[in-house]
Amino acid sequence: MNRDRTIKNDLIVKTLLGEPTERTPVWMMRQAGRYLPEYIKLREKYSFFERCQQPELACEITLQPVDIVGVDAAILFSDILVVPQAMGMEVQLIEKLGPLLPEPIRQERDLKRIQVPDVHDRLNYVFEAIKLIKQELNDRVPLIGFAGAPWTLLCYMVQGKGSKTFDEAKGFCYQNPELAHALLQMITDTTIAYLKGQVAAGADVVQVFDSWGGLLGKKDFETFSLRYIRQIVEAVKEEVPTIVFAKGAWSSLQEMAETGAHGLGIDWCIEPKMARQFAGDQITLQGNFDPAKLLSPIPVIQSEVKQMLSAFGPGKHIANLGHGILPNVPVDHAKAFVEAVKNS
Ligand code: CP3
Repeated sequence: MNRDRTIKNDLIVKTLLGEPTERTPVWMMRQAGRYLPEYIKLREKYSFFERCQQPELACEITLQPVDIVGVDAAILFSDILVVPQAMGMEVQLIEKLGPLLPEPIRQERDLKRIQVPDVHDRLNYVFEAIKLIKQELNDRVPLIGFAGAPWTLLCYMVQGKGSKTFDEAKGFCYQNPELAHALLQMITDTTIAYLKGQVAAGADVVQVFDSWGGLLGKKDFETFSLRYIRQIVEAVKEEVPTIVFAKGAWSSLQEMAETGAHGLGIDWCIEPKMARQFAGDQITLQGNFDPAKLLSPIPVIQSEVKQMLSAFGPGKHIANLGHGILPNVPVDHAKAFVEAVKNS
């Protein structure tokens, strides 16, 4: 295990390794960007991918929630879609619409347009950002690196844009399973090299985001998602603590725990006690505050945080949201969430 012993607040690393801590640690998915006025200001001056590609900007945005909100970890500012981009696809981010991949993968010949790239060439800017962030963090808190799960990346690469159902992507998998598996394996190979590069650059923990895992039934989740997540976890778990967050895929919590991941993210639709039953006693659970509840009055946030913490019980829990923070959350509500965890 690649453990940076100089980190002063290493509550999250300890919790993932199953070590006792004096309190429950806390961070928020999508904490870098979105709702902070300091971030929105930068958005006026630089395009999204400029913000990702310039290490100084990525570093500044990564540190904002640590400085402003007081979370127990930083998460790299980047996006899961830099991987399809590095594989050769055009990716745009359109204001209010979200991601757009104008030439999606639909048939066999489309696969010829993409490759498993040399990540040290195509994604070197991420590794440079990580080195700079580690320097600027100055051992205050750990840095979480991340990647999208192959299934979630396939969803965008085939659908070409966001969707509630990702019907084109699912149709592609069910009509052309062999092509789908070839694509998933290319994404997996890229992701393994990418996460290993993040760890070599200094990431202390990594998280795999399978935002659309819950669109698949249990059997198809095993076939099109978990099989590839397993390869990724296998490749990095000896190097750094690894968290898998597959939103909505609670029926596979046991199988996800069996991958050897150190932590599993859960959303607010499953009770902590039930998640614990499925996932077993050993693994750390992360979550699961409904992100929209941060729009409640602060006293409600405080009492709901108390209820969440007691439902998880002490130890082997990282307090977090059940999905990303919403763009319209007032900063003092985000702070109240973090404070409520720290004070209890
Ligand atoms: O956690 C963090 O704050 C670190 C940075 C981060 C971003 N995206 C920055 C971003 C992380 C971890 C992600 C992950 C991501 N990106 C996921 C998985 C997590 C999830 O929320 O489900 C997904 C599905 C994406 C794809 C993506 N990127 C979408 C759907 C969008 C548009 C709408 C949105 O904000 O979710 C993006 C753009 C994006 N990525 C923004 C940010 C801050 C907003 C664009 C902007 O600020 O200009």
